[in-house]
Amino acid sequence: MIVAQELTKIYGSGEAACGALKGVSLEIGKGECAVILGQSGSGKSTLLSVLSGLERPTAGKVICDGEEITAMNEKQLTDFRKRTVGFVFQQYFLLPHLTVEANVRLCADLAKNKDYGEIIRAVGLWEKRTRRPKELSGGEQQRVSIARALAKKPKVLFLDEPTGALDEETGRNVLDLLCKAQQEIGFTAVMVTHNPSIADMADKVFVMNSGKIADMRTNAQKKTAFEIGW
Ligand SMILES: Nc1ncnc2c1ncn2[C@@H]1O[C@H](COP(=O)(O)OP(=O)(O)OP(=O)(O)O)[C@@H](O)[C@H]1O
Ligand SMILES: [Mg+2]
Repeated sequence: MIVAQELTKIYGSGEAACGALKGVSLEIGKGECAVILGQSGSGKSTLLSVLSGLERPTAGKVICDGEEITAMNEKQLTDFRKRTVGFVFQQYFLLPHLTVEANVRLCADLAKNKDYGEIIRAVGLWEKRTRRPKELSGGEQQRVSIARALAKKPKVLFLDEPTGALDEETGRNVLDLLCKAQQEIGFTAVMVTHNPSIADMADKVFVMNSGKIADMRTNAQKKTAFEIGW
């Protein structure tokens, strides 16, 4: 489903050059849940951006859903992202002038999904659906960004720290919702997290260190959101 070969990403040039990815290769199967762990600055967000076609690598190849996205032009890439990819950003990126409902509906419309109200309910924001992002807490905004990504029924869902701003109870509920949505919609999930316990929910775990994959493991048995430590 996702194949990355020898990805490098260098930001800046000359003295200021920063190697955020230094030869990353990986494979994630269709419908799998992959978790990416690693210290701050190790390249996790950069890897998600490159795998999802938001940013181009300096070198290397990405094949996602059978398409070589690193060979696409801008228009093809935008079209691919629209058709295939859902993204939950570390900084949310909600549209500030739109309500919760309108933020979610915008993505639901892309997939002609009429059930987006159910998703708003599932993330616990039905009562707050007419509020704008600045009238919500950080954790509530994070849940809107998750609802928005799910409403699009993506083939691949990329999540950057989706539980970072959530307390334990809300975090577990959101992870449980993501698992249920994954079973229902059947998307492939790639999730970055600082919480190593969440890796117990994944099929595959990648540990990043200084722009490289330092460790990879598969879980024979996965835990549920309510069985993992926190
Ligand atoms: N746009 C950019 N321009 C220059 N350097 C960048 C840029 N984005 C990231 N970097 C650098 O690339 C490296 C990897 O950054 P990245 O954001 O991928 O780390 P991360 O693992 O997601 O960290 P965190 O856990 O703090 O979110 C860091 O050294 C960072 O300073
Ligand atoms: Mg990051």
